[in-house]
Amino acid sequence: MSDRKILVTSALPYANGPIHLGHLVEYIQTDIWVRFQKQRGNQCYYVCADDTHGTPIMLRADREGITPEQLIADVEQQHRADFDEFGVDFDNYHSTHSPENKELSALIYTRLREGGHISQRTITQAYDPVKNMFLPDRFIKGECPKCGAQDQYGDSCEACGATYAPTDLKNAVSVISGEKPIEKDSEHYFFNLDDFTQMLKDWTQEGHLQHEVYNKMAEWLENGLQQWDISRDAPYFGFEIPDAPGKYFYVWLDAPIGYMASFKHLCEKQGLNFDEFWGEDSDVELYHFIGKDIIYFHALFWPAMLSGAKFRTPSAIFAHGFLTVNGEKMSKSRGTFIKARTYLDHLNPEYLRYYFAAKLSAGVEDIDLSFADFTQRVNSDLVGKVVNIASRCSGFIKKRFDGKLSSNCAEPELFQQFVDANDKIAELYEKREFGKAMREIMALADKANQYIDEKKPWIIAKEEGRDAELHEICSMGINLFRLLVAYLKPVNPKLAANAESFLNIEAQAWPSETQPLLDHGINKFKPLMTRVEADKIDAIIEASRENLEKEAPAQPVKKCEPIAETIEFDDFAKIDLRIAKIIKAEHVKGADKLLQLTVDIGDETRNIFAGIKSAYAPEDLEGKLTVVVANLKPRKMRFGLSEGMVLAAGPGGEDLWILSPEQGAQPGMRVK
Ligand code: MSP
Ligand code: ZN
Repeated sequence: MSDRKILVTSALPYANGPIHLGHLVEYIQTDIWVRFQKQRGNQCYYVCADDTHGTPIMLRADREGITPEQLIADVEQQHRADFDEFGVDFDNYHSTHSPENKELSALIYTRLREGGHISQRTITQAYDPVKNMFLPDRFIKGECPKCGAQDQYGDSCEACGATYAPTDLKNAVSVISGEKPIEKDSEHYFFNLDDFTQMLKDWTQEGHLQHEVYNKMAEWLENGLQQWDISRDAPYFGFEIPDAPGKYFYVWLDAPIGYMASFKHLCEKQGLNFDEFWGEDSDVELYHFIGKDIIYFHALFWPAMLSGAKFRTPSAIFAHGFLTVNGEKMSKSRGTFIKARTYLDHLNPEYLRYYFAAKLSAGVEDIDLSFADFTQRVNSDLVGKVVNIASRCSGFIKKRFDGKLSSNCAEPELFQQFVDANDKIAELYEKREFGKAMREIMALADKANQYIDEKKPWIIAKEEGRDAELHEICSMGINLFRLLVAYLKPVNPKLAANAESFLNIEAQAWPSETQPLLDHGINKFKPLMTRVEADKIDAIIEASRENLEKEAPAQPVKKCEPIAETIEFDDFAKIDLRIAKIIKAEHVKGADKLLQLTVDIGDETRNIFAGIKSAYAPEDLEGKLTVVVANLKPRKMRFGLSEGMVLAAGPGGEDLWILSPEQGAQPGMRVK
């Protein structure tokens, strides 16, 4: 067995919200990999931290009437508790708002500056004259200058796909104060990413990236790299930039440095050598597990920053896909935006660990949590296959053989087969092909069950003079169970620990050379895992919907839109509004916001593209009555012709409501 030295990180979760099941894909994936490395005997450290800086955190603390420091302390408590109960076992969990991070950020910045990689220039930005602060693009909303869609962010229109400057928006408002933003100049600091084009090209070639990520990188490098704006003006919750009073590091500058800071903190606690891990010619392995949404920061900025500041670069970046629930983006209104805490209130965290493992691969594809599939897999694999073997065999051992296993191994070859499987399973874990690893393990579990089925101990038990045989069969079953649990240990550490105490053995290392337990006393079997109950899942979804109601005011303050100019009745009469029945609603390939609706408006049916995907699932719309503008000039869109407009109200996102008439209205009736 090797004794590799490995440092592993997961992305630092933002301190402005709770951990949800989407996050857990990453933390569980990483934790499984780290536990596997440790079980193999490698020296592996897993560090993480809360990502605490930035405008949203500052504003949230403001709204809650507490300091950002108080807010991040509270959230850290909650994050730690969630991770702990899900068995995500960091060697150190820290905060980006820490002395170590402050020092390292300043160090990296000054080294970059000394290397000539920082420049300064004045830029013009939207500014909130009431709040007295510059506005990030997503804190400005207004009407799209191209298509007129309401409530679009400052950088692009989600309805028509147009991109523009925040200053092009019509009737723009600050979502913080509701006030019209003004323009203001300010000096900014930039990291000259373009200095690192060649370095990044070389680095990308060296095989640190998955092929999908490599392709993305090649594209970015091809298009040319821009300078990166790394400063923000006060008020900002973050670290002040050295020699630049009133200027703060943009949150994404100090966030990845948080990986180093957390490890530094661990070094101080455990007397490890920081430079051995981060020094320019370190040969320690360094891996960052991240979601596919933050590849840009990790594969471009981060290696460039490290190299420019004379630190080592990552050995690899492991990106994963996004979690969908029942085939759709997690949605608050559908009750599928599930917090870690809500899950923990109802279900065993080891179920989810197993389920995610069974779905995970080394690629960046999204992974879906389907509750039907979840229930079926956990019940059939973990409960029905693995735990079942122990429960089938342990009773006889206890009752008939005084809790002692046989001194003879009945099927040494079968046992050896199970041991030999360790190489293949280890290789799959190592490559992060957890789904395949789970299939290998379950194939072994099937074999073990098949063995018991063939030997039929429950029949032998009733026959006289076959005690030794019964003893050997059940002992064999227990020995196979023991190996299965050793293989599952990275995924289900609690199950493994409980099994170890039932088996009366030490914590199991990776079973590369294991001998069967012979003549060994085991403890009384207690059910190691029960089946998933369907009503628990309903309760989670219900509770997630309720959470949504409780949390409603998390939205920024908004003023009502001013009432439009007075019009003549004739002007109104020009608009032909009709009751419409939605006969069909479908997703549109390649459109993030749109649903394609087929509506019945009496004598004809119309095709309408409506920007309501963020708020409605197609199946929820079919059969519904609504109101459409029937005489709007048809509009050619990227996806086809839209022949009308569905009326809806609300600020957007999930908060969007289509109109629906009282009972009795019929398709085709005119609204007047
Ligand atoms: N704070 C940044 C990361 C800084 S790392 C130096 C951040 N935080 S986050 O809380 O939004 O996300 C943390 C991690 O969880 C990211 O890797 C992100 O991709 C992942 N996920 C967040 N939602 C997710 C899903 N729905 N599905 C899978 N992973 C998800 O980004
Ligand atoms: Zn638009």
